[in-house]
Amino acid sequence: MAEENTKMKIDYGPLAGLIGTWKGDKGIDLSPEPDGQEENTYHETITFQDIGDVTNAETQVLTILHYRQIVQRKSNNEIFHDETGYWMWDAAAGIVMHSLVIPRAVAVLAGGKYLGEAEGNGDVVLEVGAKLGDPDWGILQSPFMRDKARTTAFRHKITLGKGTLRYAETTMLEIYGKTFEHTDQNELTRQS
Ligand code: HEM
Repeated sequence: MAEENTKMKIDYGPLAGLIGTWKGDKGIDLSPEPDGQEENTYHETITFQDIGDVTNAETQVLTILHYRQIVQRKSNNEIFHDETGYWMWDAAAGIVMHSLVIPRAVAVLAGGKYLGEAEGNGDVVLEVGAKLGDPDWGILQSPFMRDKARTTAFRHKITLGKGTLRYAETTMLEIYGKTFEHTDQNELTRQS
């Protein structure tokens, strides 16, 4: 890890604009229920902290943000999703990686090539994905979840504008005997 006093020199590439605290109250969640689905509106806080860099096998350098996402139902303020992990940037390969864990005993390592400011308006677009069984970007889950509420794929797109962060994510589930597209989206504004 980088020393505290060299933090300023680290190049976080397309992740740099994430650093800070974000809040948003336009969240929409679609999640599975035995008899169909439920829709929840939510507000949330996401904090991205720059934590430096690592070198792997003396050759690959990753710069890293740690994040924490706390999501609360609008109806009663209950925290109903609590997620943490890292965003990593491999400048030499031009690859963005997103590792995440959720307290249902599910872990994901998603990745994708950074395509630049893809929408031509200066917004930074980060897109990562993972699939169950994929040798590159995969999903790990407990035996219970594998058998009863299996995550088979994950996609996440962040669009970072000036002071705004929009995201849309899709988690494919096999649950209650059906395939379910579990989606979450929100728009957040920078607090610090
Ligand atoms: C803002 C993000 C998210 C929110 C608000 C959210 C919310 C929910 C809700 C409300 C349920 C229904 C069950 C319950 O009421 O607890 C659920 C189920 C589930 N979610 Fe999420 N989720 C989010 C992101 C994710 C992600 C990123 C993953 C995994 C990659 C995930 C995996 C699952 C799984 C496996 C279930 C099935 C468990 C069950 O319904 O019994 N979720 N989620």
